[in-house]
Amino acid sequence: GAPVTVDISKIEEGQKVTFPWRSKPVFVVNRTKAQLASLPMVDSRLVDPKSDGSSAGQQPKYAQNEARSIKPEWLVIVGLCTHLGCVPDFVPEIKPEPFDPEWKGGFYCPCHKSRYDMAGRVFSGVPAPRNLEVPPYHFVNDTTIQIG
Ligand code: FES
Repeated sequence: GAPVTVDISKIEEGQKVTFPWRSKPVFVVNRTKAQLASLPMVDSRLVDPKSDGSSAGQQPKYAQNEARSIKPEWLVIVGLCTHLGCVPDFVPEIKPEPFDPEWKGGFYCPCHKSRYDMAGRVFSGVPAPRNLEVPPYHFVNDTTIQIG
């Protein structure tokens, strides 16, 4: 598949926009400071917080950090659950019950209830085995990303 060039200038803080790439949905999220601050809070609940275990192949080297991104605020991630490939819902805020009270929001798969944090890192105790995949991408300029 060819690379896809996307304009991120209209994506507001806290918003997610989906772009197709190689027949997959790619989520681009403009994360808020609060969402970024939530990442270290959930480390102890994650299967692979540093993405160096079961998720070692799930991101390019330049995205192997806690935010799993090149620029902290911009998350670029394949929107397919690592369990059986459903498209997870974006849940940008902390949800009360019936969700896990320690979950600070992120992505929720409606098929079998897998939860991921705001960096697409999977919580333990759910069916999904790995963090969501970060595709290869780079910034063409401040408002343009090329995926692939
Ligand atoms: Fe997402 Fe099963 S496909 S939890």
